[in-house]
Amino acid sequence: MGNLLTEKDKRTHMCGTLTAKNIGEKVCVMGWAQKQRDLGSLIFIDLRDRTGIVQLAFDDATDREIFDLAFGVRAEYVLCASGTVRQRGEGAINKNLPTGEIEIFVEDFKVLSVAQTPPFEVVENSNVNAELRLKHRYLDLRRPDMQQRIIARSKISRIVRDYYAENGFIDIETPILVKPTPEGARDYLVPSRVHKGKFYALPQSPQIYKQLLMVSGFDRYIQLARCFRDEDLRADRQPEFTQIDTEMSFVTADDVMKMHEGFLKRLMKEYMGIEMTEDFIRMPWIEAMERFGSDKPDIRFGYELTDLSGVLANCGFKVFARAIENGGSVRAINVKGGARFSRKEIDSLVEFVKSYKAKGLAWLKWSESGDISSSYAKFLTDEENEAIKTTMGAEAGDLILIVADKNKVVFDSLGALRCECAKRMGILDPMDFKFLWVTEFPLLEYSEEDERFYAMHHPFTAPMDEDLQYLDSDPGRVRAKAYDIVLNGTELGGGSIRIHDAGIQSKMFDVLGLTKEEADVKFGYLLEAFKYGVPPHGGLAFGFDRLVTLILGLEDIRDVIAFPKVQNASELMTKCPSEPDPKALDELALAVTVKE
Ligand code: AMO
Ligand code: AMP
Repeated sequence: MGNLLTEKDKRTHMCGTLTAKNIGEKVCVMGWAQKQRDLGSLIFIDLRDRTGIVQLAFDDATDREIFDLAFGVRAEYVLCASGTVRQRGEGAINKNLPTGEIEIFVEDFKVLSVAQTPPFEVVENSNVNAELRLKHRYLDLRRPDMQQRIIARSKISRIVRDYYAENGFIDIETPILVKPTPEGARDYLVPSRVHKGKFYALPQSPQIYKQLLMVSGFDRYIQLARCFRDEDLRADRQPEFTQIDTEMSFVTADDVMKMHEGFLKRLMKEYMGIEMTEDFIRMPWIEAMERFGSDKPDIRFGYELTDLSGVLANCGFKVFARAIENGGSVRAINVKGGARFSRKEIDSLVEFVKSYKAKGLAWLKWSESGDISSSYAKFLTDEENEAIKTTMGAEAGDLILIVADKNKVVFDSLGALRCECAKRMGILDPMDFKFLWVTEFPLLEYSEEDERFYAMHHPFTAPMDEDLQYLDSDPGRVRAKAYDIVLNGTELGGGSIRIHDAGIQSKMFDVLGLTKEEADVKFGYLLEAFKYGVPPHGGLAFGFDRLVTLILGLEDIRDVIAFPKVQNASELMTKCPSEPDPKALDELALAVTVKE
C-alpha cells in the first residue's frame, strides 16, 4: 500500500464514465473522496474526478487492512482504488447519476494524500462567498460546475481555432512587452533593467502588430491574445483578458462581418446545437441609439424609446420644455405590464436613472383595473396627456417612463432603464441568443472637457467613403467603417476597416490634434511601414471571456476565468500586486515613493 503510485497502479477509467456496461470488469480509478459513509460492516466512498462520481464499496469480504484504511477516509482525501465493477444492491440504485447503477468492489486501495477539512464543501452551486472562493480558488475549481465552465472554455477555443484555420487564418503570437498601444485605457507599465528609467507597456491589444502583419503579407491573422488594461472593473471586465484577435487583407467591412458571423453560427451549432440560418441584423449606430438608447442594444425585448419632443415642445411643464429648448429631448419607454410595479419599485427606478445623471424620471402607471396615476399629468394639458398615451401606444397594465435632458443623458438613462425593467419583469431568457451588428459608428467623439475630438475606436479606423468630405469641415458628422458585434446587450467584439492611405491618416491625426512630430513619436513605425505598400485591411476582436460567459448563460466573467482578479484588480490567492523585493528595485535602479 503506501501513498506512492507504483508502476502497477495504472488508471483504467475516469470515475464518471463507468456504467452498467462495465459490470464484471477489473478497473482502477483515482480521484478525491466526495464523502464517506460508514454503515458498520459496510463502507461506501463517493470518489470524484472531473468526469463525475463513482461509488467505492467495502464490505465483509474486503481485506481487513483495506477496510480499516477506508474507515479513516475523509472528504477530499486523494485515493487510488482498484476492483471489480458490480451491480448496486436493490434500492441503492441512483437513476440521477450516470454511474448510479454500479459500484466498484475495492480489492486494492491507496490513500495517496490526506486532506484537512476544506474551508468550504466541494459541491455544485455552493453559495459560499466570492472572496473565500477566490482565496482558495484551487478548491473552488474542484467544484463540478466550475470545472464544466473551464472545460467548456477549452472546447470553445478549439472551435475558434478550427474555424479560423479552415478559413486560412494564420496563428501568430505578438509581443507582450510593447510600446504603449493606443486603445484608450490606461497601460500597465513594466520597468526595463537594461534601459534604466525606461518602461515597456503590456499590450492593451495587438492592434498595431496585426496591422503590420498585413503589411507583411500574411493576409489573415488570428491570435487568442492576452490583453491588459488598467481600467475600473465590472462584471464584464477584467484587467487582463483574452481576445480572439483577427485581421484580414483585401476586404471590405461586409467581408469581415460575414467571416465572423460564420464563426458565431458555427459555434452556436457545434456547441449549443442551435442552427442560425438568417443573417444577423445590421443596425446603424444612430438607429441603435434612437430606438434602444444604447450602442449595444439588447433586442430580446421591446420597450423601445419614443421621442415625445414633438408632442411636448411647447408644454407647460418646465422640465420638459426646457430640455427641448436647450437642444435635448423628452423620450419615453412603455414597459408593457409594468403597472404591476409598486410605488416603492417605481421610486427605486427613479433612483436608478439618477446614476445615469438623469435629474428625474416622470412616470404614468395605468393599472389593469383602469386607474391612472402619474407624476407629471398635472403639469400638462389634457391634450398633451392624451398625446403621450397615444404616441406611446399605452394600454391598461402599462407603465410609461419619461426622461427629459440632454440627448446623451436621455439615451444613457433610458437605455439602461429598459434593461433594468426587463430584468425586473423577468422576461430575459439567457438562452435566447440575439446577435446584432451595430455599424456606422461616429468616427470621432467630442470631449467638452478637453475641447477636442477623440477617435471613438482608434486613430486607424477608416472614415466611411461618403463622409470623407466632412473630415475637415465637420468632423463630428463623419461615420466610420466600424462595427461591433452585440449579444443580448453585451458588446462581444468590435473592429473596423483601417486607414491604409497616408493622406487620410495624416488628416485624421490633424483632426485629433496631433502634430506631425507627435504622430511620428507615437506611431512613426506604422506610418513608415505604410510607405512600403500596404494592402487595404480590417479586422475584429472578440472578447473571448465575454463570449464564453454569455454562451454558458452566466453573468460574471470571473466564472469562466481560472484565476481572475477582483474588483480592485488584486488576486486574493497569491495576494498580488505586492511590494517589490528591494533587491529587484535596486537592479532596476528604481525607488518607490507613493504620492498622496
Ligand atoms: P476593443 O477595445 O473594442 O477593440 O476590444 C475588443 C473586445 O474585447 C473585449 N474587452 C474586454 N473583455 C474583458 N475585459 C476587458 N477589460 C475588456 N476590454 C475589452 C470586449 C471588446 O468588444 N484592437 C481592437 C479590435 C480591432 O479593431 O480589431 C480592440 O481591442 O468584448
Ligand atoms: P418635480 O416638479 O421636481 O416634483 O417633478 C415632477 C416629476 O417630474 C417627478 O416625477 C420628477 O421625477 C420628474 N422629473 C424631474 N426632472 C425630470 C427630468 N429631467 N426628466 C423626466 N422627469 C423629470
